[in-house]
Amino acid sequence: MPRLAGKRVLILGAGSVGEGIGNGRAMAILFAREGAQIACVDMNLAAAEETTALIAKEGGQAFAMAGDVTQESEITRIVDATMAAFGRIDILVNNVGGSVPGGPEELTPEAWHKQFHHNLHYVHLSTRAILPIMVKQGGGAIVNLSSVAALRHVSSDLMAYAASKSGVMALSRMIAVRYAPHGVRSNVVVPGLMHTPLVEARLAGQRAGGDVAAIIAKRNAQPPMGRMGDAWDIAYAALYLASDEAKYVTGAEIVVDGGLTLRTQ
Ligand SMILES: NC(=O)c1ccc[n+]([C@@H]2O[C@H](COP(=O)([O-])OP(=O)(O)OC[C@H]3O[C@@H](n4cnc5c(N)ncnc54)[C@H](O)[C@@H]3O)[C@@H](O)[C@H]2O)c1
Repeated sequence: MPRLAGKRVLILGAGSVGEGIGNGRAMAILFAREGAQIACVDMNLAAAEETTALIAKEGGQAFAMAGDVTQESEITRIVDATMAAFGRIDILVNNVGGSVPGGPEELTPEAWHKQFHHNLHYVHLSTRAILPIMVKQGGGAIVNLSSVAALRHVSSDLMAYAASKSGVMALSRMIAVRYAPHGVRSNVVVPGLMHTPLVEARLAGQRAGGDVAAIIAKRNAQPPMGRMGDAWDIAYAALYLASDEAKYVTGAEIVVDGGLTLRTQ
């Protein structure tokens, strides 16, 4: 029996920022393999369509939608379109997010607010829109993406990212308690240093002067396992939390980091 048989899923940020498989794309593909139908939302429609094409190639069911999840009107449109297509939403994945480096002096108030919109504010918007639907249905599962940066200082100053991703965890716990009586679970996947297309597309430019090999070597050297993880490591953790196998799990955080946060140096 597929692990998500018959489930209807909305994934926000289901594309990928570069060539290959990012966390959102891996979750969409894996969830579809496990019998779910997926609404793949991304501000980059072509990236979402690439995800749905990969799913279709494997015989799965998904559709793509463009949308900026940081806008309330866009969230309304996305949720309405998903309900029109599926008639229900069993699983919501809040995968949109990203980091801009900076400590308290480098980060402008504008950059701070932008990070909060990109990582945290939209999670409020999406859960606010979905929760009444899940309550009416009698249950649902929300999977939020945080980061080990919310737990520890991980080699770069990522103040706004760390603070906003900590907010994702707090918000998720609040929802877990408040909505437990309604059968809605809310959990968090906490990725460590993953080798997703983000590394080549963004991080090399931001943090290593465009030197891709240097940033890869630096990230591989940090976890006790001696390498970064990949998007599938995140997708399998999310799959468990989204599935009925986790029916007694809410307000939890699964750290997927190859032991990175266990280290003191
Ligand atoms: N890759 C890592 O090492 C790592 C580590 C820790 C946490 N994470 C978290 O994992 C999540 C995503 O990882 P990924 O590999 O899928 O990244 P990604 O950047 O490849 O995918 C995110 C997708 O979201 C889309 N997006 C960005 N802003 C949007 C908006 N306003 N509205 C709609 N779509 C938007 C992008 O176009 C992109 O396709 C993020 O929350 C990130 O913070 C990643």
